[in-house]
Amino acid sequence: PTALSVALLGCGTVGQEVARILMEDAEELAARTGARLDLVGVGVRDTSADRGPHVSRDIVTADLEGLVDRADIVVELMGGLEPAGSLILRALRAGKTVVSANKALIAARLEELSTAATESGVQFSYEAAVAGAIPILRPIRDSLAGDRITSIMGIVNGTTNYILDMMTTHGSGFDDALARAQELGYAEADPTADVGGGDAAAKAAILASLGLHTVFPLEAVHTEGITEVTSRDIEAARASGHVIRFLAIAERVAREGGADAASVRVHPTLVPADHPLAAVRGAFNAVYVTADNAGELMFMGQGAGGAPTASAVMGDLVSAARRVVAGGPGRTEAAARSIEALPFAESRTRY
Ligand code: NAP
Ligand code: HSE
Repeated sequence: PTALSVALLGCGTVGQEVARILMEDAEELAARTGARLDLVGVGVRDTSADRGPHVSRDIVTADLEGLVDRADIVVELMGGLEPAGSLILRALRAGKTVVSANKALIAARLEELSTAATESGVQFSYEAAVAGAIPILRPIRDSLAGDRITSIMGIVNGTTNYILDMMTTHGSGFDDALARAQELGYAEADPTADVGGGDAAAKAAILASLGLHTVFPLEAVHTEGITEVTSRDIEAARASGHVIRFLAIAERVAREGGADAASVRVHPTLVPADHPLAAVRGAFNAVYVTADNAGELMFMGQGAGGAPTASAVMGDLVSAARRVVAGGPGRTEAAARSIEALPFAESRTRY
């Protein structure tokens, strides 16, 4: 195909950034995928609201099923379990590629959605669902597939890291820091999922499922949020040379005479002040992976926010479009050499 029609379900913090990138980088994306990516519709609840300069009013609709039916690729950025789940299944069963950032849904229905994609021979990808812009799911699922991951430990919720950081370094109050995180677009529509630990628990279940090659049930994640953390706790941590960080931990536990088991939990943790995780500031996330042969790996970057999350969504979208264009696994390198090689003498990098 020379053009692929893309449907965007949801046009909030992340969706508006995806629409912007599709518009601003249209030529480059076409060169990289081999097809124009045409945004044919944007599905929302309130069709009268302004969706920013990159979404024309005539493509905004509340008919989400109709929109799914006329797209080649569906990008789900609505959040919530329903109607997102039914719409994704509708798309997958009709043989359409789907990209989503919806960790709550994926943690709850990973096996069902992946099976539907496999049965239709299409891709269902969700790199943006865990740790925003950080490429973490493909590395643990694909790059480390020949190794044995023994533990994954990290800061996977930007809102709570932002709150703890503001309380620690600026003496902010919990409520003020949360309000600011909401303004900055880090928090979920219902921030209870962030501060109560549900969001991190969903991400931990996804990390455990992909990294430990299992389907780890969300209900089995031990979950403690940060709502009980006070400024006195933060001061006590400081006095003992620690900072409080909200960690998600997935560990492979060897059992004598039996198959390994997985322990998955999220909770506020005392981290030594000189540990690299203590230096993760603001809405940044970081994930440490330990594997038998690779040893220790660390991934760090912006864990929340419109543009960083849209970056991960676009990565999945380009990869999916390449597959559709190729009618199979797709190309792995850019088709068009759109950028010239600069001689070293003209390099501007200075360290
Ligand atoms: P958001 O700002 O709340 O936007 C949600 C969008 O979905 C809105 O346009 C809303 O339409 C639409 N929507 C929600 N329910 C709908 C329904 N029942 N029918 C039609 N439209 C509906 O959310 P967001 O922050 O962009 O997050 C979107 C997804 O990305 C969520 O799954 C979230 O967990 C995930 N995510 C977010 C971030 C982040 O930093 N924000 C990072 C990673 C992943 P209306 O505006 O008309 O209500
Ligand atoms: N609310 C989430 C967070 C968005 O704060 O990390 C990114 O998944």
